[in-house]
Amino acid sequence: MRMNLENGPAAGISTECLVLGFTENGELSPAAKATDEVSGGTISRMLKDGDIETTLGKTHFLHGIPGIAATRILAVGFGKQEKLDLARFDRGCQAAGKTLRDHQLTQCHVCVHELEFSAVAEIDIADRLKQAALAIHRANYLYTITKPLKDSSPVPVQSASFQGGDTLQVALDQADALAIGFEKSKLLGDLPPNICSPAYLAQDAASIAAHYDNVELEVLEESDMADLGMDALLSISRGSANDAKLIILKYTGAASDQKPVVLVGKGVTFDSGGLSLKSGENMMQMKYDMCGAAGVIGAFEACAKLQMQVNVICIVAAVENMPDGDACRPGDVVTSMSGKTIEVLNTDAEGRLVLCDAITYCEKFDPDVIIDVATLTGACVVALGHHASGLISNDDELADDLLAAGNDIVDRAWRLPLWEEYQSQLDSPFADMKNVGGMPAGVLTAGCFLSRFAEDQRWAHIDIAGSAWKWGTDDGASGRPAGLLAQYLLNRSK
Ligand code: BES
Ligand code: MN
Ligand code: ZN
Repeated sequence: MRMNLENGPAAGISTECLVLGFTENGELSPAAKATDEVSGGTISRMLKDGDIETTLGKTHFLHGIPGIAATRILAVGFGKQEKLDLARFDRGCQAAGKTLRDHQLTQCHVCVHELEFSAVAEIDIADRLKQAALAIHRANYLYTITKPLKDSSPVPVQSASFQGGDTLQVALDQADALAIGFEKSKLLGDLPPNICSPAYLAQDAASIAAHYDNVELEVLEESDMADLGMDALLSISRGSANDAKLIILKYTGAASDQKPVVLVGKGVTFDSGGLSLKSGENMMQMKYDMCGAAGVIGAFEACAKLQMQVNVICIVAAVENMPDGDACRPGDVVTSMSGKTIEVLNTDAEGRLVLCDAITYCEKFDPDVIIDVATLTGACVVALGHHASGLISNDDELADDLLAAGNDIVDRAWRLPLWEEYQSQLDSPFADMKNVGGMPAGVLTAGCFLSRFAEDQRWAHIDIAGSAWKWGTDDGASGRPAGLLAQYLLNRSK
């Protein structure tokens, strides 16, 4: 979706759809007020009569409004004005974006960011515009790779203009880049596992590297990983006919002596569970097990698009977890690249085995921080559901910065403890640790496991098992946490 700013009077803008926001008991926004005036009070009359619903997330089209150049108005409800904060604003905007996409509209003009917030009066117009543009762009996504568009609706909107002048251009550019990051992440997540293999992820990385002068790519093959001693990662890949790839994207946006942010993504392109085979019910969602990889690639692309002033390395551990005669057995003891030994009691706890070697590999980049992202545990879904990603970190400042970035862009995380008391659940009589910690606090013991490979690093882990996708709806992958990560990089690049 193309996005631009348009500064003329909203009522005079000739478009298929003028998008206006309304709050309960709230004042009319400047655009709504102007529209009301040219229409001889039609808008305020409809509001008073209850014909314009202001409930948060409710949208409806208004036709035949006199005096305006637009063909129709999309009225978007934002709920009670005194409760309107950025998260609620985002929900309203996403609802608007979905309605726009679900109809046969090709263009629109959006004014929702002109709404008066009272609860969050400190959120300035640029941030509101950024959120609105991002939300509408995100909601406009439609998967078409293996199911092409038909003549009937819905169709994505081709171009959206937003009310405002040049001072908002920076915010709009940021929204555009973040939306492209989300979109890339979402698409990689939604692709079927017979297309999105480790090799496909490597190809996608190559296309990013080809596009930017200051992006370089390196791909390690299984033989390279064997030379490095990555036996934890390779033990998972062994049962698959698709070779593992360790994909390394480097972006140089700052002086070469500035330590990089290293992002690590779990890229299990399909997680059957391995010999600890999942049930059919639990397996059918496991194409999404590469959403950590998708999220870091999306954030990386947003960073390159905006040419942020940071150095970033993106590492994707791309592996398929399958059972065969050569597959890792429950009971096997493997030696990770760090030298630490691991008793693999459950081959379905594969994400941590793949990530531990990727985290050890990060050391060579002398990182400022390491952030790994993974659909790591079902326990995280139980704990936090679909709204918050789980954050675990050994560094308070890094954790706070990530939480803040998530709040800034409404791609939110919630911090969970990394107390040493939980570590003993990983004790093994046969190796330095086992790869499962039992039922209690499964999300934390997974974090404890990873923390052992990042002991001397400022490190954070984001479990996105609940937030990366939604099953049973047409939502598919969410693209998260591409936004949180890109915003974190953006906050650092200021
Ligand atoms: N990819 C799964 C985690 C997952 C489960 C993500 C459901 C999203 C939804 C991971 O590899 C896994 O299988 N984890 C196991 C770990 C257990 C064996 C310790 C789990 O959570 O059941
Ligand atoms: Mn698994
Ligand atoms: Zn997995």
